[in-house]
Formats: sequence, C-alpha cells, structure tokens
Amino acid sequence: MRMRAVLMGPPGAGKGTQAQVLAQGAQVPQIATGDILRRAREEGTSLGRRAQSFMDRGELVPDDVMIGIIEERLGQEDAQGGFLLDGFPRTVPQAEALDRLLAQIGMPLGAVLLLEVPEDDIVRRLSGRRTCPSCGRSYHVENDPPPADGRCGSCGAELVTRTDDRPETIRARLEVYRRSTEPLKAYYAQQGILRAVDGLGKVEEVTARLRAALRD
Ligand code: AP5
Repeated sequence: MRMRAVLMGPPGAGKGTQAQVLAQGAQVPQIATGDILRRAREEGTSLGRRAQSFMDRGELVPDDVMIGIIEERLGQEDAQGGFLLDGFPRTVPQAEALDRLLAQIGMPLGAVLLLEVPEDDIVRRLSGRRTCPSCGRSYHVENDPPPADGRCGSCGAELVTRTDDRPETIRARLEVYRRSTEPLKAYYAQQGILRAVDGLGKVEEVTARLRAALRD
C-alpha cells in the first residue's frame, strides 16, 4: 500500500528535511502547507497576502483557509496514490476535517509520525537554518552547511533566512505549537496511528527511525 501519512512535530524538528527524503523514497508527493503559503506569498496572490501577517507573527493561518488548501491539493492527480503531509493538520478542527475528507475519498491515514526534539535544540536548529525558496530544501550553517556560494545544492536558487526564524518569532511558534498542535497527539493516539520518533541525531539516523516506525 502507498504511503498515506502525516509528519508532525514542533517547528524546526526536521519535518521538511525528513519529509523530502521519505516522500521521494515512497514516490508520493510531499505536501508541505508552509511551502504552499510561502509560494503564494512570493507570487503575491490574495492567499499569500492574507497568510503573511499570521506567518510573520508565528501564528497559525485560520483553519478554513488551510482546510480549503488541503482539499484542493489532495484532489490533484499526483496525490491519488498516496501522500506525505508536512505541517498539516496543526489543530484538532484541521485533523477532523482531514479525516472527513479522506473518508469521502476512501483513503484513510495509515500513520502519523511525531518527530520529538527538545526546545533548546529546536532554537539552535532554527537560528542556523538557511532555506531554499525554490525547492524548499533546508540547510544548517553548522550541521548541514550550504554550498559556499550561498546557493541551493539541489536547484541553484539563492538561499534565504526565513522571516519567521527570528528569536522572538521562534518563541511565539513554539507557544502556538504547545497550545494548538500538541492536542493532536491524543487525537491520533486514540486512533492507534501515532508513532513517536526521536528526532535527535544525524539526519540519516532519524530517517532510518522514521522508516522503521512506518513499517511497525
Ligand atoms: P512551516 O513551514 O510548516 O513551519 P514549521 O512547522 O514551523 O516547521 P519548520 O519548517 O520551521 O521546521 P521543520 O520541522 O520543517 O524543520 P526543518 O526540516 O526545516 O509553517 C510556517 C508557518 O506557516 C506557520 O508558522 C503558520 O503561520 C503557517 N502554516 C503552515 N501550515 C499551517 C497549518 N496547517 N495551519 C495553520 N497555519 C499553517 O529543519 C530545521 C533546521 O534543522 C534546518 O536548518 C535543518 O537543516 C536542521 N536539521 C534538520 N534535521 C536535523 C538533524 N537531524 N540534526 C541537526 N539539524 C537538523
């Protein structure tokens, strides 16, 4: 059966880094709501303009907007065989809407992977992150240094520091995670599909743990 999974965890836990590898290996699309919003922002669409102020403050974009985005994305051809959701759902109403949507199309979730990383490590990871605005790949100035010319090793675009990686915004995002997203642990544990995975260690070690959790 093709992968139908969610990768969740606090900001900076390594969701994007891991989702890219896992999705590629499983030949399913990585659906990252943060990337979708950032692209809309760069293109200056009305969605992008609406999302900007929430993102810059480290707050969540309203549920109705996010549910609409996911409904449309999951309806696209490449998601029919499976998908890996990265950054969605982030609230209980989003999780309930996702369940309803997947029930309608007969594709229930197989697993929810929870990446666990202590807060001190998260702050270190986010403050050293450099991101590719084109393909979404993340680097870290110490742990995973980008090429010396400051361009993405995968696609050549110029790397940027995300506007929400400022220390005060990182704190706000962590608080939002605790308040709005952590309740999803109980929601998915009750469904019996939550798999917690230690997110510390080398990227490849974490990938191996996630793959093992998917096989369980
Ligand atoms: P989003 O883009 O989803 O941000 P996030 O959840 O805060 O997660 P990040 O992208 O910051 O981190 P990550 O876990 O992907 O870590 P990464 O792999 O980059 O969302 C941004 C905003 O959009 C939200 O704040 C909200 O406003 C809005 N939004 C998005 N979805 C929404 C939704 N569903 N509802 C409402 N609003 C929504 O890694 C981080 C760093 O660590 C990198 O530098 C990386 O190189 C490094 N690293 C990775 N793995 C390791 C490792 N094993 N060891 C050492 N360093 C590592």
